[in-house]
Amino acid sequence: MDSRDLSLADFYKVPDTDIMGRARKFKEYLDDIEDKKHLQYRRVSVDGSGPVMKVLDRYTGKVRDMVYLASNDYLNLTKHPRTISAGMAALEKYGSGAGSVPLLGGTLDLHIELENRIAAFKGCESAIIYTSGFGSNCGTLLSMLQEEDIAILDMLVHASIIDGCKSTNTKFFRHNNMDSLEKVLKRVKDKHRTKLVVVDGVYSMDGDIAPLDKIVELAKAYGAYVMVDEAHASGVIGSTGRGTPQHFNIEGKVDIVAGTFSKGLGGVGGFIASSNELVELLHYYSRPYMFSTAMTPQVAGSLIAAIDIVENEPQLRENLWNNIRYFKENLLNLGFNLGNAETAIFPVIIGDDFKVREICRRLHEMDIYVNPVLYPAVPKKLARIRMSLMCTHTKEHLDKALNALEHIGREYGII
Ligand SMILES: Cc1ncc(COP(=O)(O)O)c(C=O)c1O
Repeated sequence: MDSRDLSLADFYKVPDTDIMGRARKFKEYLDDIEDKKHLQYRRVSVDGSGPVMKVLDRYTGKVRDMVYLASNDYLNLTKHPRTISAGMAALEKYGSGAGSVPLLGGTLDLHIELENRIAAFKGCESAIIYTSGFGSNCGTLLSMLQEEDIAILDMLVHASIIDGCKSTNTKFFRHNNMDSLEKVLKRVKDKHRTKLVVVDGVYSMDGDIAPLDKIVELAKAYGAYVMVDEAHASGVIGSTGRGTPQHFNIEGKVDIVAGTFSKGLGGVGGFIASSNELVELLHYYSRPYMFSTAMTPQVAGSLIAAIDIVENEPQLRENLWNNIRYFKENLLNLGFNLGNAETAIFPVIIGDDFKVREICRRLHEMDIYVNPVLYPAVPKKLARIRMSLMCTHTKEHLDKALNALEHIGREYGII
C-alpha cells in the first residue's frame, strides 16, 4: 500500500471488513508511512518535557537531543522545582492514589484547595476538577445539553467539545467570524430551550485568539450562554496569565470557563469554573466526574503550586512572550505563512500533506521536534507543521530551529 495519497479519513470505514480487518488495513498504511520514515507520532522521550528533550529515535535506536517545539507545557512548569517538591510532599502525605471516585470517598482537602484556587484564578464562584481536560469538556456538555437545547460552535473548537455535543443539536459558525455567529444566533432564536455558544479561547492548531468580548456581547443579545475552553490560554494570555476573559477585560462575564491543567499549568486534568449552582449540578450529573477516580494527590499538589507560580513569577510569562515575538518576527521575515497566529502556537502552513511529512522527517533528522498536522485534522490546502514555544527556550534553541527551517523552507520551495 502506498500511503502517499491516503489519510486517516480512508480508514474510518473500510468496506467489507470487520474491526479486525480494518485494523489490518490500517496497519498496512502505517507500515508504509514508517518505511518512508514519516512516522513521527508517538516518539518516545526519555527525560520528559523541556526546551531540549532526549528522544529515542525509532529509526536509529539512538537517543537524540532535540529542540522540542511541540510541547503545550508553555511555562515549563512540569520541571519547576516547586511543582516537583509540592507533588512529592503530597505523594508522601496522601499516598499514590485518591482511592475512590470524588462523590464516594475520593475527595481530599487538597482537591478542595485546588478547586478554590482555580475558581479564584478564573474569577468564578466555584470550580469542579476532573482527571482529564477532554473528560471535563465532554462530560460537562453531555450533562448540560439535552435534545431541546442547542450548542452553537466555532467550526474549529476542540474534539472534546464536539463529542460533548453528541446528544444535543449543534450548529457551527465560521471560525472567529462574528457575522456568521450572528446569523446562526438569529436563526435559532426562540427555537431552543438552552442556547450555548462554545469557543476555544486560543485555538490549538492555529494559535489565534477568539474575539471573546464580541462573542459574549452577541450571545447576550440573543439570549445565549457562553462557554470558553481556556486550554491554551491559561498561564499564557491576559496581563497576569488568567486567560482570554482577562485579555479582553471581561472577567466574570463568561458563563462557563473550561480549561485543562495539562498545558500552561504543567500537570494533567481539567476544570470547569462557573456559578456555585452549576458546579453543584455537575457533581451529581457529570459522568466522567462521578464515575472516575479522583485526581492523584501528587498531581493536585503540583497544580496548587503551579497556580501559585503563575500568579507570582510573571517573568516566566514575560520570557515566553519574548520568545514568541522573536520567533514570529524571524519566521515572518523569512517568508513563512503563519496564518493568524498570535500566541505560543505557530502553524507553518504548507498545503501539501506529503511535503509536510517529508519536512517533518528532515527536521527530525536535524534534531528539531515539530509535529505534522494533516488532513482530515485540517483541510488539505491548510496542511501544516505545528510548533509551540516554552519560556525556557533560549535564543540559541530558537536560532537553531530558525536556521533549520530556513534551509528546509528554501529546499522545498516554501519560502
Ligand atoms: C483546546 C483543547 N481543549 C481540551 C483539550 C483536552 O485537554 P487534556 O489534554 O487535558 O485532556 C485539549 C488538548 O489536548 C485542547 O487542545
